Amino acid sequence: MPHLQSLPSPNKLYVAMVGLPAMGKSVIAYKLQDNLYNLGLSARVFNNGEVRRRLFPENTSHAEFYDPNNAKLVALREDIALINMYEAKDFLNNESGNVAILDATNVSAPRRHKIIAHLSDHPILFVECRNHDADLYAASVARKTKLSEFAHLSTEEAQASFEARIRHYRSIYCPLDTDGSGTDGCPPGAKGPENYVIVDSLNHRIITEHLLNEPPYYGLLRDLLVSDWVKGLSLIRHGETEFNRENRIGGDPRLTDKGRQQARLLAAHFRDRHISSVVTSTLRRTREMADILLEGRPEVERYALKEFDEIDAGVCDAMTYDEVRQLRPGIWESRKADKYNASYPGGESYASMKERVERGVKKALYLSGNAENLVIIGHQAVNRMILSHFLLRREEDVPYVYIPQDRYFHIVSTQSRKLVELLPF
Ligand code: F6P
Repeated sequence: MPHLQSLPSPNKLYVAMVGLPAMGKSVIAYKLQDNLYNLGLSARVFNNGEVRRRLFPENTSHAEFYDPNNAKLVALREDIALINMYEAKDFLNNESGNVAILDATNVSAPRRHKIIAHLSDHPILFVECRNHDADLYAASVARKTKLSEFAHLSTEEAQASFEARIRHYRSIYCPLDTDGSGTDGCPPGAKGPENYVIVDSLNHRIITEHLLNEPPYYGLLRDLLVSDWVKGLSLIRHGETEFNRENRIGGDPRLTDKGRQQARLLAAHFRDRHISSVVTSTLRRTREMADILLEGRPEVERYALKEFDEIDAGVCDAMTYDEVRQLRPGIWESRKADKYNASYPGGESYASMKERVERGVKKALYLSGNAENLVIIGHQAVNRMILSHFLLRREEDVPYVYIPQDRYFHIVSTQSRKLVELLPF
């Protein structure tokens, strides 16, 4: 009979992240760690890159370091991975940890065999992250190249180096759901591990779930994987524009003096508040608002997403509401009858913009790395859609949600806390 202590403990788990660089693994690893911690469990992320930087502070960021054909460097990186595994093992066995999360690419079959061989004391759940959005990929690469390990390179050199690193990883990438044919980057006859889940890390969707025996905490982990995690989102509408003053819709107007004054009040309100990133639409009125908000704050990351552009008013773009009523009575009436579903000819309806606005929210959260203080500066219709996503409003009410220009919505949506409050600035 085995000694009691050698039996796997039912409440301990290794989570091994899998995925090419810039696929959102670390964002998910920390999301799991922080949420498990908030739920009273002891969870910790073990990142191979941190071990590398700790043990080899000299430059190991150059792409050749990741060349799978350089046996000496492969051995060194395998040693780093092993040290990380043993630190995770120590955490579970000697520091009363519940969940140890191995944050590394782990894209090759031999690396995963090594994890399985060395971490046989508790169950392992492999979590592969995939994300095919080209904008996000570019933004993630751009962000990586700002890390201190690339400080000795120009932006272009850092980007080229990081992309060369990704190519090295791609050359040994074997997906968890290999078909064993030997044509998908995995050795012929290869099988995925016992327990794994593949997630779309942008849309928080489970692509594949494969469980031979359900590991501890799985129900909870799956819920976390598919949930938005909004620690703090300030949802702001741009200030007054010339078009607003004339009751004109759409277009790409600039802020008026009053609009710029509203932006200055916003900046004063946020002066002593941390902002992690600001996401605007691509239109001038939201970008101007961000310019004023971020004066003197060059450290704040900025992104402009088309997903947050105002509802496309098609043939009515740049008309006043009175002109729509007089010149396009059909459109006016159909909006009156069913504003949510009524489309502007050549443009959009609330219903048809829902998908892109929600994609924008996911992108903004992803780009901010689930940070605490994300700011989105949007438009009336766009902000209504974003807000209703969190408030679960009836569709027919969405086009009537009040979106002022001198107040903003502060939103929190985590597993343990839901909050939407309208605050003045
Ligand atoms: O009026 C400003 C504006 O942002 C327009 O550009 C847009 O068409 C409109 O609000 C959306 O609100 P509604 O659906 O109520 O017309």
